[in-house]
Amino acid sequence: MLTSAVQGVYLVAAVLFVLSLAGLSRQESARRGNALGMAGMVLALGATVVLAVDRSERSATVTLVLIAAVLLVGATVGTWRARRVEMTQMPEMIAILHSFVGVAAVLVGFNSYLTEPRADAVHQVEVFLGVLIGAVTFTGSVVAYLKLSARMPSAPLTLPGRNLLNLGALVASGGLMAWFLASPSLPPLLLMTVIALALGWHLVAAIGGGDMPVVVSMLNSYSGWAAAAAGFMLSNDLLIVTGALVGASGAILSYLMCRAMNRSFVSVILGGFGTGGGTVAAAAPGEQGTHTEVQAADVAAMLTGARSVVITPGYGMAVAKAQYPVADLVQRLRAAGVDVRFGVHPVAGRLPGHMNVLLAEARVPYDIVLEMDEINDDLADTDVVLVIGANDTVNPAALDDPASPIAGMPVLQVWRAKQVVVFKRSMATGYAGVQNPLFFRENTAMLFGDAKEQVERIVRAL
Ligand code: TAP
Repeated sequence: MLTSAVQGVYLVAAVLFVLSLAGLSRQESARRGNALGMAGMVLALGATVVLAVDRSERSATVTLVLIAAVLLVGATVGTWRARRVEMTQMPEMIAILHSFVGVAAVLVGFNSYLTEPRADAVHQVEVFLGVLIGAVTFTGSVVAYLKLSARMPSAPLTLPGRNLLNLGALVASGGLMAWFLASPSLPPLLLMTVIALALGWHLVAAIGGGDMPVVVSMLNSYSGWAAAAAGFMLSNDLLIVTGALVGASGAILSYLMCRAMNRSFVSVILGGFGTGGGTVAAAAPGEQGTHTEVQAADVAAMLTGARSVVITPGYGMAVAKAQYPVADLVQRLRAAGVDVRFGVHPVAGRLPGHMNVLLAEARVPYDIVLEMDEINDDLADTDVVLVIGANDTVNPAALDDPASPIAGMPVLQVWRAKQVVVFKRSMATGYAGVQNPLFFRENTAMLFGDAKEQVERIVRAL
């Protein structure tokens, strides 16, 4: 009776998770999506606690106290970290959270083996795969966290024969699985865990800073599969469904990000691409020509005379927290009859939807925030484009220079507008470490300084 009731609650929670994902796919419904996800999680946790108390061999009070204690620790640390995290630190926070899913899958696997060492072959495969995926996810996520938080150099580690090393690790794990199935014992499981931990570390260490957000999304997918494997081990249907949802959505997101950067999924996984992220090395003087510099008052004058303006934000807008003065500027220009729209590149910033979140936070109306594909054709008819803290995503070399490391990446073709103004602090390169010929074009003007301060100056001058 109780088990059926719990299964029923799990089913409701699973439906809520699906609705949550559907809600999160659009900006207008994202809040509702989050709320549905939270409601699903409360139901899932509640039902799991009830089941755990019912099945426990200890007294109900002891079980409840133990669960309450771990929930309190987890919720306190989680709330404290989530409240303090800056938007720009979100990818590294997500990476470290994935590592917890990985380590949980490893612990569940070992626990499952130790409590049921003589289980059938299907269960042994579940244990083995759960530990394998969990261990790879754990160390891979830790390395992603260390790279994203600059505690480890973000340049790719390119060991000789690195792909062979990875292949060797997989083949060895296959052999160990055969051994484990033939005679279930701790040595093959432990050996495989050590190999999988090293594999996860090496896989992500070999990937450069520019590809790290894709890796985070890929690890998100792995953590989902690790959770699904744990669900099989624990015979928990909801964990299987939830894990599969996370695994599949992470894989789809990774694919979409690769497509937006014109990178193949396999080449990202094999690594070796990209320089240290966020390099600050300036171009050698005269390397690309000369650039024109303007002041905030000049930009205010350009905007006053413009009929159509497009703003293409990038990572620098997030760093400067310039979204609020940008929203203010947009409101004033629109009130003065100027047609203002945003062009958002799919990988602008450091995480999917980064710019959309910031603009929504500053209450910019959704209907003027367009995707790159929606705005690119209109740029030739635009009077002024304001490139606020974007760099790689507006780099013409991606289209003009086949030798460029970002060749083939679709970009916002801002140079087709009558006038372009680039807001940044120096001539430094962007995330991919590639110089940007846009800065040296005749119709481009550079407005140096912190994006927030400069936009505030423009607003004052207007
Ligand atoms: P970036 O190419 O990273 O350039 C950001 C620019 O902002 C820098 O050139 C920097 O120049 C400027 N900046 C930094 N702080 C600033 C401040 N306080 N005020 C004004 N400017 C500031 O940005 P992007 O165009 O958004 O491109 C994103 C990059 O991340 C791409 O290479 C993309 O492939 C990569 N990436 C993103 C994702 C996702 S999901 N978003 C995933 C994978 C990879 P200064 O230092 O001179 O100021």
